[in-house]
Amino acid sequence: MPPVSGEAAGPDPRLGGRAIRRIVFDADAIARRVSELGAEITDSYPNGNLLVVGLLKGSVIFVSDLVRAIRRPLQIDFLAAASYGTGTTSGGTVRLVYDPETRLDGRDILVVEDIVDSGRTLARLLEIIRQRGPRSLAVCALLHKRIATALHQPVRFVGFDAPPEFLVGYGLDHAEDYRHLPYIASI
Ligand code: IMP
Ligand code: MG
Repeated sequence: MPPVSGEAAGPDPRLGGRAIRRIVFDADAIARRVSELGAEITDSYPNGNLLVVGLLKGSVIFVSDLVRAIRRPLQIDFLAAASYGTGTTSGGTVRLVYDPETRLDGRDILVVEDIVDSGRTLARLLEIIRQRGPRSLAVCALLHKRIATALHQPVRFVGFDAPPEFLVGYGLDHAEDYRHLPYIASI
């Protein structure tokens, strides 16, 4: 792959001429942190049934890198909730739009989220998962804004503390754009 962090290389054609404020985490920083998280997760679970549940769509890129850094058997499924409209502020309601096929009872479940903002989405989803009787339930978030008041369970694995800005890239979108950026930028 060609170098991707390089602001020096001129405007990123992926942006289609739109401006970003700054690159907050470049591809190398993300790769290093994901590999550390993978090691932490590997060491944190006893042998058994680890099920990684990615929250769609924001976590897809993170999940696909993260699972390859976890050195133990596991399975992957996804959950989709809609909480944001097309803007940059929270809508407040959480709607399940895809429900995993996998049975969750008795499983060690690691929910993977792109970013914890108010924590509302995650709190609601954890409630739904908990009702299905997992053996354990933990969360791994790539980014944490550290302002969540709605979340009663701590996020066990955190990639980076996020600045109070709207971030895009590496899965995070603004109105469905920018998910494919290999870095995380503020807009
Ligand atoms: P919460 O329910 O307020 O914690 O919002 C969580 C969801 O909102 C995340 O899964 C993201 O999809 C979205 N979100 C929150 N902050 C940002 C951001 O800075 N950039 C892009 N999406 C965000
Ligand atoms: Mg999202």
